[in-house]
Amino acid sequence: MSVQVAVNGYGTIGKRVADAVTLQPDMELLGVAKTSPNHEADLAVENGYPLYAAVEERVELFDEAGIELAGEVEELVAAADVVVDACPSGIGAENRSLYEAHDTPAIYQGGEDADIVDVSFVARANYGAATGADHVRVVSCNTTGLSRLLAPLEEAYGVEKARVTLVRRGGDPAQTGRGPINDILPNPVSLPSHHGPDVNTIFPDLDIDTLGLKVPATLMHTHSVNVTLEASPDAADVVNLLDEGDRTFLIPPEHGIDGAGALKEYAMDRGRPRADIWENCIWGESITVEDDDLYLFQAVHQESDVVPENIDAIRAVTGTADAAESVARTNETLGVGF
Ligand SMILES: NC(=O)c1ccc[n+]([C@@H]2O[C@H](COP(=O)([O-])OP(=O)(O)OC[C@H]3O[C@@H](n4cnc5c(N)ncnc54)[C@H](OP(=O)(O)O)[C@@H]3O)[C@@H](O)[C@H]2O)c1
Repeated sequence: MSVQVAVNGYGTIGKRVADAVTLQPDMELLGVAKTSPNHEADLAVENGYPLYAAVEERVELFDEAGIELAGEVEELVAAADVVVDACPSGIGAENRSLYEAHDTPAIYQGGEDADIVDVSFVARANYGAATGADHVRVVSCNTTGLSRLLAPLEEAYGVEKARVTLVRRGGDPAQTGRGPINDILPNPVSLPSHHGPDVNTIFPDLDIDTLGLKVPATLMHTHSVNVTLEASPDAADVVNLLDEGDRTFLIPPEHGIDGAGALKEYAMDRGRPRADIWENCIWGESITVEDDDLYLFQAVHQESDVVPENIDAIRAVTGTADAAESVARTNETLGVGF
């Protein structure tokens, strides 16, 4: 019997998660919910996804727009085995009581505070911690990218201290109101930034300091990473270690990929849906070890790296697969791994 999945919030993350759910042999997409009858509502209907109104007072807007609703979100949540909440930051916390009222386990996104959930989640790092949990948070795109990198380093060499500068995209491509347009902002200006403590929701004992900047870009985030290791591996060993991971893509030097623009072009050329890049993209040439200090650059696609994590979180919460099985199935069905 397939796991019946609801997606509440059908925007940047929600529509990707909904599509990914439909690719899983062990899941069924029961429906998606949103508040306004815009082009994404049309898309849901075109895709054959039952569309539910997230807010009762807005039902008539869908009627006026001629968009057929399957019902209201409460019915969707009641019927689902699990709900993925991909609403704007903070709305997930407001929705928590709805999910509790129907005993429906919920998976939230990184814009929610860690303290509204039982466990924060990255499949590579702590899949088992989410098994049977009622409220799980798939961490932010940046924390996902850092956790995927730090998990194998910690296991193979031990991490004494991580220091990361996050050069963050100003907004997603459709977020016309975000910026900066022509500036480079220390953001947040007070240091260290909140990103390190967010990584600690996955690795509580990890010593990590982070700094953030925002730049006029929409494509991806770029991380400048320095990890002091407890061992002194050769750079080639680190390359091999990171190359083994399915969700870490070592950019081959001969590809001539010099930044996020070329990475997105690479994804488009390979027919990725929405030019999504689910993997951490690590420049192999940047991997350098001096004594016990590792340095590298990686880029993460903010709109999509959390998508496979949401699929794995569904299996973790419902106890329908162990970590290895789930990750392998998610990777295969989505086509993760260039
Ligand atoms: N975008 C990223 O780069 C990114 C990366 C990682 C994690 N996240 C996190 O993922 C979450 C969602 O972000 P997003 O970027 O996907 O936001 P988004 O593009 O704004 O999508 C959220 C969608 O939720 C709908 N919505 C608004 N209020 C709602 C409600 N009360 N009930 C149901 N649906 C509602 C909105 O559509 P309607 O107004 O039409 O309902 C909107 O399309 C946030 O926690 C965010 O921090 C985002």
